[in-house]
Amino acid sequence: MAKLMQLERILQSQGFGNRKACRALVRARRVAVGGETLLDPFAESTLAGLVLQVDGVDWPYREKAYLMLNKPTGHECSRAPRHHPSVLSLLPEPLRNRDVQPVGRLDEDTTGLLLLSDDGQFIHRLISPKHKVAKVYEVTAKHPVDDGQIAALLAGVQLHDEPEAITAAACTRISERVIHLSLTEGKYHQVKRMLAAAGNRVEALKRIAIGPLKLPEDLPEGGWRWLEESELGGM
Ligand code: URA
Repeated sequence: MAKLMQLERILQSQGFGNRKACRALVRARRVAVGGETLLDPFAESTLAGLVLQVDGVDWPYREKAYLMLNKPTGHECSRAPRHHPSVLSLLPEPLRNRDVQPVGRLDEDTTGLLLLSDDGQFIHRLISPKHKVAKVYEVTAKHPVDDGQIAALLAGVQLHDEPEAITAAACTRISERVIHLSLTEGKYHQVKRMLAAAGNRVEALKRIAIGPLKLPEDLPEGGWRWLEESELGGM
């Protein structure tokens, strides 16, 4: 049987505040479905395919939130940032209220593909080294990347504090100073430390893919979008 839920509870589940705030939102005539203003906060609705409009903005009902963000520099991936604003400040308030969290961390000066979710199992699966989800980075190096450095990254480099050499799953030269480096773990400053151990230095770092998911060219820096069901299937 189709699942029914009261409007105020639906709004609450989607991050629009507590039940009292959601009731007030409805009574202020700010919530609609299909262009029709809803007036009864206790009216029950089916959830499948439901698209709420709040202040004219579409909010498709999502039991869990799965998002991608094109992270700009100057943002920290922490909920309690120290020196720069959090990436969460780039999301609309209902998503922040839903306790959406970054899937792993990118450094403050790293750009590119960052996933966020309020699904703890999804987050765990993607960051656990056991699952070997490849993260691909576009690395702009300070010096030309020579064959010896690529061979070292593939064979494994010794990082301080790591018991064993760390290998790249793949490494492709794109131009003299740009490589694509694929890693299946996410150790602290891993790309920067690996490049340094190979005798080079990272000048700019951008994550361009996570598993089968690529950073879309049309997603501007600082922009976010929902992940589609079809994209989640492969994760
Ligand atoms: N490796 C790094 O050094 N920094 C990042 O942000 C991600 C991977």
